Order: sequence, then structure tokens, then C-alpha cells
Amino acid sequence: MTKDFYTATEERRSIYGISKEVVVTDEKIKEVIEHAVKYTPSSFNSQSTRVVLLLGKHHDKLWDIAKEALRKIVPADQFSATEDKINSFKSGYGTVLFFEDSAIIQGLQEQFSLYKDNFPVWAQQSSGMHQYAIWTSLEIEGLGASLQHYNELIEADVKNEWKIPNNWKLIAQMPFGNPTAKPDEKQFSPLEERIKIFK
Ligand SMILES: Cc1cc2nc3c(=O)[nH]c(=O)nc-3n(C[C@H](O)[C@H](O)[C@H](O)COP(=O)(O)O)c2cc1C
Repeated sequence: MTKDFYTATEERRSIYGISKEVVVTDEKIKEVIEHAVKYTPSSFNSQSTRVVLLLGKHHDKLWDIAKEALRKIVPADQFSATEDKINSFKSGYGTVLFFEDSAIIQGLQEQFSLYKDNFPVWAQQSSGMHQYAIWTSLEIEGLGASLQHYNELIEADVKNEWKIPNNWKLIAQMPFGNPTAKPDEKQFSPLEERIKIFK
């Protein structure tokens, strides 16, 4: 690890300026994802998170799918801004897709009915932890990433294109690449309003 946990936590940002000129190998990106998926916790150790890594033409195809889906619902006179935004994601090197396996979640709901309302919430929380682990790990490797949610808009086409099991529910998309623009300075709400300590 080239950075300690605290530095990586501070330096992970939403990076919207990304390009395909990455120096990290595909093997390293795969390792980062495997490490996060293996070690990130899940409720009852259910391991319901599923991840798909799209590189090269697969990454480009994803953002073409999103663009065409948006073209159907965004008014024509506003589409140019939408297209620019989608193209900025497509300019990246790859995208990580996050899913939750609803078959596992349903199985737990049946097995532990006392917690049945909690399992979908815990699955979302665990997905968020996976997203954060991968986002921060990509940062450590010198890559910039952001988190996107075109879920309902693209889910059917995504499943069709990459033969994704129907019980995998699409949760988020994380486009990443070589960072080409620094993020704006981040505003922080006072910690005293957000943390209470009793001792
Ligand atoms: C649960 C969650 C959902 C988010 N959804 C989006 C999104 O749909 N599109 C987007 O551009 N950024 C999204 N973000 C990024 C936040 O806007 C961003 O993390 C926040 O403004 C803080 O900036 P930073 O990531 O640079 O620290 C999301 C972040 C979180 C944690």
C-alpha cells in the first residue's frame, strides 16, 4: 500500500475529469476489486454484493446505453448538456457496476423472518461499503472515480448486454480513469454538529 488509510480516505474524491490514459494494469484493477469484494463486511456474512468490471469497448458500450436511454426522456433542447456529461464518463478507462443479489437477500428474509425488513437495508449498506472500498482503493492506485446512479434507466439493457442474472439488482455505476482535473475544494460542515462524544 502506497498510502496509509487516513491519507487515502482524505484523498478519495469524486473525480469527473477522467481519461483512458491509465498507467495501472488491468490485473491491478482486478486485484483491487477482488480484495474489496473479499474483505468488505456484509450482514450475516451474506456476501450478497456482486461487481462487474467493464473495460475497453464494454465500458464505452455502457455509456452509449446510458446516452440512448437518456435521449428518450430528456427534452431535445437540453440533451446536449446530458450528452456532454455522459461523454465525460465514457472518456474514462473503465466502469465498476455494483449489484446486490436479491436471491440471497430473499433467502435470508425467509430464514430469519424477524429481520426481514432489515436485510434489504443492510444489503444497501454493505453495497455502499464495497463502493467506498473500491473507490478509495482506486484512488490509492492513482485513478480518479465518481459514483453514478442511472440504475432503472439502464438495468434491462445492461442485463441483456452482459448476460447478468436477473436476480442481480443494479445499485450503482463507478466510472474511473486517469484523473485529468482536480476536484473543487470540499466544504465541510462543523464536526461538532455531526459528532457527539460522551466520556
Ligand atoms: C450514496 C451516494 C450517492 C451518490 N450519488 C452520486 C450521483 O448519483 N452522481 C454523482 O455525480 N455523485 C454522486 N455521489 C457523490 C457525492 O456527490 C460526493 O461524494 C460528495 O459531494 C462529496 O464529494 P467527494 O466525493 O469529492 O468527497 C454520491 C455519493 C454517495 C455517498
